Amino acid sequence: MNDGIGIRHARITGWGSYAPSAVLTNADLERIVETSDEWIVSRTGIRERRVAAAHETTASMAAVAGARAIAVAGLDPDEIDLILVATLTPDYWMPSTASLVKEAIGNTRAAAMDVSAACSGFVYGYATAQAYVTSGMARNVLVVGAELLTRFLDYTDRSTCILFGDGAGAVVVSASDEPAVPHGIELTTEPSGAYMIWLPAGGSKSPSSAATVGRGEHFIRMEGRETYRFATKTLASTALAAIAKAGLRPDQIDLFIPHQANIRIIEAVAKGLGLPMEKMFVNLDRYGNTSAASVPLALAEAVDAGRIKQGDNVVIVAFGAGFTSGAVAFEWTADPAAGARAATVRPEEIRVRVPVDWDSVDPIPPQLAAVLAAPGPVAVPLDDVVPGDPPARAAGGTPAPTPTAETAAPPTPAAMPASTEVPA
Ligand code: ACO
Repeated sequence: MNDGIGIRHARITGWGSYAPSAVLTNADLERIVETSDEWIVSRTGIRERRVAAAHETTASMAAVAGARAIAVAGLDPDEIDLILVATLTPDYWMPSTASLVKEAIGNTRAAAMDVSAACSGFVYGYATAQAYVTSGMARNVLVVGAELLTRFLDYTDRSTCILFGDGAGAVVVSASDEPAVPHGIELTTEPSGAYMIWLPAGGSKSPSSAATVGRGEHFIRMEGRETYRFATKTLASTALAAIAKAGLRPDQIDLFIPHQANIRIIEAVAKGLGLPMEKMFVNLDRYGNTSAASVPLALAEAVDAGRIKQGDNVVIVAFGAGFTSGAVAFEWTADPAAGARAATVRPEEIRVRVPVDWDSVDPIPPQLAAVLAAPGPVAVPLDDVVPGDPPARAAGGTPAPTPTAETAAPPTPAAMPASTEVPA
């Protein structure tokens, strides 16, 4: 991979994203846990999130976003020297998700590895790509952030299951002889927060077993208030350090792409930096928190929406489990019009291979399968229906459709919390 070329400049030449088509609204979540659209919007800013279909995985979403970024860069997949996939929801413990992505995008020569830094993963990956390119170790690096979080959530825990969604975003970082504003990079890790967001079982400390699954230790756990405090304290300071390293002042930044976790956290960052909210790109209302995918998904959308133009100074900044945080300040140099080339990549043409003699279980959590299959209230088990009760009605007053075996597997009383009963 090392082509022996000396120090070079690095810049983004391609960008792309992918979001699954199924939408889970706050109203849908009201049918799963004791929550409300009003609570979720006022406390987080999130209105809906995407849910990957049964045939989709983190690798498949990463491959589509990655292929789009390569198309936008105008490269052949084999011109990529290194593939980095940031994720906390890999397809498997091994092989790496990056390895699967390499095959799916049709690359035969890149090194491929995953980056584990939770929601900061894409920023860590981007910093790594910078180092590889500027040192001469690689000419073109594909950096992807991809997550399939909806399969790692406890749908009886209203403090976490309302926050997260699925998706992927990617950039190509390429070598260039043309100098631009030097990248300012700041990465931090604060292990005192290691158990503030974690997934207890499945690792070497607590291998998966019937007991760990029974205790729900295969789901994400989070201390929301502590995480909130860390985020509001750290995001602004990390961004400021990166901006200073780039030789810039905050008022010289045209657009911030912050991790899309909570609108109140983003507002606190803007306040901390003394900047108006117009300088913060926000799309969490439509995707929720997609962890490592959130920054590249937002970056691709911002460029395609005309919010970033050539010569703009941009900051990407994230925080996450670890606690980690990271920020990069850089000058945007690519022509946003190239983004149109992403449309040449069709998701249905990209396949992630599985062994011919193997198939997994149905991966969709039953609570999600039920609400996505049946617009309107979740069907209550027949035992719970009081004789003479009127038929369940959807929010708009439409009678709830009767789920069939094909459209919904009604949740069993044991699998569903009491709060999933049909609202009156
Ligand atoms: N619906 C209704 N009520 C709820 C919900 C819900 N979904 N969730 C919690 N509540 C209740 C609580 O039970 C509590 O009730 P109580 O006062 O009777 O005890 C009340 O609402 C307030 O709860 P708080 O936890 O104090 O609510 P807060 O305003 O802190 O908001 C939130 C919670 C949204 C989770 C916030 O703390 C937050 O955003 N934290 C940061 C989380 C984050 O960004 N995580 C991602 C990290 S990135 C990564 O690496 C994965």
